[in-house]
Amino acid sequence: MRRWVLAIAILAAAAACFFLGAQAQEVRQGHQTERISGSAGDVLEDDPVGRLKVYVYDLPSKYNKKLLKKDPRCLNHMFAAEIFMHRFLLSSAVRTFNPEEADWFYTPVYTTCDLTPSGLPLPFKSPRMMRSAIELIAMKWPYWNRSEGADHFFVTPHDFGACFHYQEEKAIGRGILPLLQRATLVQTFGQKNHVCLKDGSITIPPYAPPQKMQAHLIPPDTPRSIFVYFRGLFYDTSNDPEGGYYARGARASVWENFKNNPLFDISTDHPPTYYEDMQRAVFCLCPLGWAPWSPRLVEAVVFGCIPVIIADDIVLPFADAIPWEEIGVFVAEEDVPKLDSILTSIPTDVILRKQRLLANPSMKQAMLFPQPAQAGDAFHQILNGLARKLPHGENVFLKPGERALNWTAGPLASLPVLLSFLLLLLLLDRRGRAVEVEGGAMALRLSPAAVALALLLVATALEDVARGQDTERIEGSAGDVLEDDPVGRLKVYVYELPTKYNKKMVAKDSRCLSHMFAAEIFMHRFLLSSAIRTLNPEEADWFYTPVYTTCDLTPWGHPLPFKSPRIMRSAIQFISSHWPYWNRTEGADHFFVVPHDFGACFHYQEEKAIERGILPLLRRATLVQTFGQKDHVCLKEGSITIPPYAPPQKMKTHLVPPETPRSIFVYFRGLFYDTANDPEGGYYARGARASVWENFKNNPLFDISTDHPLTYYEDMQRSIFCLCPLGWAPWSPRLVEAVVFGCIPVIIADDIVLPFADAIPWDEIGVFVAEDDVPKLDTILTSIPMDVILRKQRLLANPSMKQAMLFPQPAQPGDAFHQILNGLGRKLPHPKSVYLDPGQKVLNWTQGPVGDLKPCLHEMKTISVYRIRPLDKTVVSDSREDRMNRLTQLTQAAGMKGEDRQPIYSPENSSPSSRRSDGLMADRRDVTEIKVPTSCALGGRNLDKNYRERQMESFRCDVM
Ligand SMILES: *[C@@H]1O[C@H](CO)[C@@H](O)[C@H](O)[C@H]1NC(C)=O
Ligand SMILES: *[C@@H]1O[C@H](CO)[C@@H](O)[C@H](O)[C@H]1NC(C)=O
Ligand SMILES: *[C@@H]1O[C@H](CO)[C@@H](O)[C@H](O)[C@H]1NC(C)=O
Repeated sequence: MRRWVLAIAILAAAAACFFLGAQAQEVRQGHQTERISGSAGDVLEDDPVGRLKVYVYDLPSKYNKKLLKKDPRCLNHMFAAEIFMHRFLLSSAVRTFNPEEADWFYTPVYTTCDLTPSGLPLPFKSPRMMRSAIELIAMKWPYWNRSEGADHFFVTPHDFGACFHYQEEKAIGRGILPLLQRATLVQTFGQKNHVCLKDGSITIPPYAPPQKMQAHLIPPDTPRSIFVYFRGLFYDTSNDPEGGYYARGARASVWENFKNNPLFDISTDHPPTYYEDMQRAVFCLCPLGWAPWSPRLVEAVVFGCIPVIIADDIVLPFADAIPWEEIGVFVAEEDVPKLDSILTSIPTDVILRKQRLLANPSMKQAMLFPQPAQAGDAFHQILNGLARKLPHGENVFLKPGERALNWTAGPLASLPVLLSFLLLLLLLDRRGRAVEVEGGAMALRLSPAAVALALLLVATALEDVARGQDTERIEGSAGDVLEDDPVGRLKVYVYELPTKYNKKMVAKDSRCLSHMFAAEIFMHRFLLSSAIRTLNPEEADWFYTPVYTTCDLTPWGHPLPFKSPRIMRSAIQFISSHWPYWNRTEGADHFFVVPHDFGACFHYQEEKAIERGILPLLRRATLVQTFGQKDHVCLKEGSITIPPYAPPQKMKTHLVPPETPRSIFVYFRGLFYDTANDPEGGYYARGARASVWENFKNNPLFDISTDHPLTYYEDMQRSIFCLCPLGWAPWSPRLVEAVVFGCIPVIIADDIVLPFADAIPWDEIGVFVAEDDVPKLDTILTSIPMDVILRKQRLLANPSMKQAMLFPQPAQPGDAFHQILNGLGRKLPHPKSVYLDPGQKVLNWTQGPVGDLKPCLHEMKTISVYRIRPLDKTVVSDSREDRMNRLTQLTQAAGMKGEDRQPIYSPENSSPSSRRSDGLMADRRDVTEIKVPTSCALGGRNLDKNYRERQMESFRCDVM
C-alpha cells in the first residue's frame, strides 16, 4: 500500500518536472533583445558631453593616489568605483580646467582605501580625511564657500555612504558627515527614508570587474537550465551569532525554506563556474546582506539572469534610467517563504519579456565601470544623473558671508586629523633605525650602534639566565601547598544526571574535548573514579552536578553559552526534586565547573555578561571557573580560579632538551588586533596588545608576531620572557604554556585573579606589568636584575608548578584536578550560615532574563515533511531523453530508499553549510504531515524567531 502511494507521488513529481521543463524550453533560449522605446530605458543612451562641465580639484596625493599606492588592493574591491571615477574624469570630455565655467566640482578623496590586513575596507578615517580635504579646497578656491558644497559632488561608495560606518546602527547614529550635507553624494547605498541616503543622491552599482566577467562569457544560446540560483552567505555567524540581524533574516529564510527544493540551486560555496552558472540560470536571487545592495545585482543584469530583489525599500542604481520593475522581480522580505510559488507562477511570456529587456546591451553597460570607459557605462550614467540636476536651483548659492554648515559638528573622534599617524612615530625599522613618518616631529632617535651595544650587553648578561636549570622551591610558603593531597580531607558526592546534561553532548560533538574549556569534562571524568568520591551523600562535604556548559559549538567550533542558563536551571531543578541536599543549603555546599569566558554569567561579550550577572540559582554555590578579575560581577567571592585547558600530551611531545639555551628575550604569538570583532580598536585587550605591537614590532629584543609557527612550543622553551597579555578576557592559555615551558610569564592584565592564587606564588615566578606601562615594557624587562630572573627560572623549574597547570589523563598527584579539590578542602568545615532553616528560601527561581525562562509548550502542531530522495538538481532542464532517463532512475532509487522520510527541519540537519552532499533532495510536491510539540516544530515558517533561539527551544523541549 505504502509503495503504491510512493510510486504515484514520484510519477506525479516526474510529470510536473516534465511539464515545467517543456514550458521553460523557450525561456531557456530566448535571446532576442527588446527595449522600451521612449521610456526610461532609453535614457541610458544619453550622452553627457555638452550637457555639463566638471572641475576636478587638484588635491595633494595623500587624499587619493598615495592611498592607492600604499594598498593596491583598493582597485579590486566593491567600492573601487571612486578610484575609477577619478581616473575617468581626469581625461573625460566633460572636464573643464576653468572653474569659473564649471557646473559641478569634484573632490577626489578615496574614502574606502583604508584596508585591514585581510583586505576589508573600513571607513573610520574617512570623516577626518573628508573634513581635511574640504578645509583645503575651501581655503584655496572660492567655490566651496560660495555654495558650501551644493554644486560639489563626492563619491562615497562605502556601505552606508557618507555616514562612514559599516554598522548600520552606528552609521545612523553618526548620520551623514555634516560638511557634506549640501553636496551631492554618489553612493552605492540606497534605502528609502534612511538617514544615510539624502535626497538627490545618485545611487550607483557596486564595482564588479568587467574584464573578468567578460572572460567568463559563454555562448549566448546556452540553455538556462537552472531555475533559481544563489551563491553566498545565509548566516553571518561571526558578526551575528544569534541570527536575525544579518539580512534581517531573509537569507536564513531562503536557506531554511528552500535548501532541499530541487528548483533552487543555492549554497554557500563559491564555485569557479559562478559567472557561467548565472548565465545558465533563469532567476538569480539578490537578497539584502548587511546593506540592501550586493554585487549580485550587477552580475545578474550583465549575465541576463532575472534579478529577484529581496530588499524592502531598496533604492536601485540609476533608478531614474533603468526600468527595474520591468526587468526584475521584487519579493518582499516577509514573502520569502512563498518564493517558490511566486517564481513558478510568473507567466512564461513575462519571463521572456524580462529576458529580452535584459538582453539590451545598454542595460549591462550601465552596470559596469570599464577601463577605458565606454559610451553608456556607469561613469556616463553618473554624469547624466548630474546633468539632469542642472541648472542649479537658486538656493544653491549663498549670500556673501552666509554660513549654513557647522564645521565642528559630528563625533569628536573624527576631529583630530593626524592623531593616528602620530602613533607610528616611535617605530624602529628592522635595523633599529628610527622610521620617519609623515609629520614626524618627535621621531625617536636611536643609532644602530647604540642598539647593537644594548643587545650585546643584554646578551652577555643573559648567558647564565639562558642556561639556569636548577630548581628552587619556597619552603613553607604557598608554593608548598601545591603538593597537598586532598584525599582524606574532603568527600564529594557526584549527582547522577541524565546523559543529556553531559555525555550526550560530547557524543554529539567531540570537539568539546579539545577546546580551552574542556576542563569541565575532564573534571567530571576524574571525579567519577577519584578516591575522594563518596557514594553516600549523607557523608559528603561537597556536591558536584556534572553539567557541560561549554559543549554547544558553532559549526566552526566556537563554544557559545546561550543554552547554558536553561540547562543549568533544568539540572538544578532535577537535583532539587530528586535529592534533599540542594534545598538544605540552596547550593551553598555545591560546586559547579563553569569554565566559559565570563563563568556563570554565560555570555561571551563582557557587557552582556555583566548585564546578565551570575545565574541567580548559582549565587550560593561555589564556582570553579577560568575567568578571574577582581571586583567583577562575574567573579563571586570564594570562586576557585583554574587554568584553561591546554593539551598535556601534545605539550609533552614538543619538549626540547633542558639545557637548550634561551636565546629569545621576549616571545609572543597571537593577535594584536581583533578587527573582526573590534574594528575600531581599543576594546580588544583594552588596547594592550595593540600597544605591544605598535611599540615593539621592530624592536630586535621582541620576537612577536601573529603567525603561529609549528615550533611554537619549542620557541617558548627558548625564551626568557613570554608575554601573557589579556585578550577579550584577562586570562589566556599562554599562562599555562609559559609555566609548563619554564618561560617567565609577563602578565599584562590589570586586576587579574590568577589560577590557584592561594597556592601558586605568582608574584615570585612572574612579572606583572600594568596595561598603561606597556610602552615601557622594554625598559621594565631589561632592568630586571639578573639574579631575580635566575630565581624566577629556578622556581618555574619546580615540577609541581607545571603539574598544577595541567589536567592530564589519567590524573596525577598535584595536577589541576587535585588543586581544585585542595581549594574545596580549604573551605571546610562549612560555616553554619550554609544551612538554611527548614522551609527557608533565599534564591528566586524565576529571576533572570525572560528569554531564559520561557516555558516549554507541549501542544502538538502539524508540520509538513518532505520525502528526501535522489534527484538531479537541474530538474527543469534538458532534453526529453534526459528526462526519461531520470524518471527511470527515480523509480529505481525510490524502490531502494522506500522509507526514507525526513523532516525538512530538525536540530540535527539545520546546519547552514550542510547542503546534502549525497545527492539526495527533498521534493515539495511529495509532502506528508506529522505531529510534533509546538515549540519543537519550528520549521521554516517561524521566521520571526532566529536560528539560535530555535536551537535553544528544541533543546529545552528535550530537557524539560
Ligand atoms: C571660506 O570660509 C572659511 C571658513 O569660514 C575661511 O576660513 C576661508 O578662508 C574661506 N575661503 C576663502 C577662499 O575665502
Ligand atoms: C525543594 O524545593 C522545591 C521548590 O521549593 C520543591 O519543588 C522540591 O520538591 C523540594 N525538594 C525536596 C526533595 O523536598
Ligand atoms: C523573583 O524574580 C522575579 C523577576 O525578577 C520577580 O518578578 C519576582 O517577584 C521575584 N520573586 C520573589 C519571591 O522575590
